[in-house]
Amino acid sequence: EEVSSRDKPLNALPDIPLFSDLPRDAFIEFFDGCPLRHIPRGQRVFERGSRGNAFYIICEGAVRVFRDEGKDLATLGIGAFFGEMALLSGAPRMATVESTSPETLLLEVPAPVLAQLSRRYPQVARALKKFCRDRLLTNVMS
Ligand code: CMP
Repeated sequence: EEVSSRDKPLNALPDIPLFSDLPRDAFIEFFDGCPLRHIPRGQRVFERGSRGNAFYIICEGAVRVFRDEGKDLATLGIGAFFGEMALLSGAPRMATVESTSPETLLLEVPAPVLAQLSRRYPQVARALKKFCRDRLLTNVMS
């Protein structure tokens, strides 16, 4: 279910460490191009192996990340993000992501919006790559 960004005040967004040093007007412009998605508990945001064309920031609720049922790679909550790997690498989604809370609200960042943001603010691209590396390492070691 898609909710227009305009129905939701900007101050309802959580503190997102990834974007903490972006200028406010850049953030507002960016937020405008991103739909909000409401994902009920148990519903999947995407499946492992699918093509990636967006990444997601958790505004409310929580998700679990898993490759195989019964063995979660991670649980992510408010302010965290996921789906960056497929966008950075062009590889298929490496895990399935599922809502674990009745009120999971995601800010969906389409690939072109992220690309534009990363060009203008290289620190965003650097931070995303660092997360990606750390997560890959975690998965290799687990
Ligand atoms: P992507 O491969 O696009 O889709 C699945 C997502 O799960 C992946 O991007 C990451 O954002 C996320 N993910 C994978 N492994 C981990 C992990 N160890 N911790 C947190 N998030 C992860």
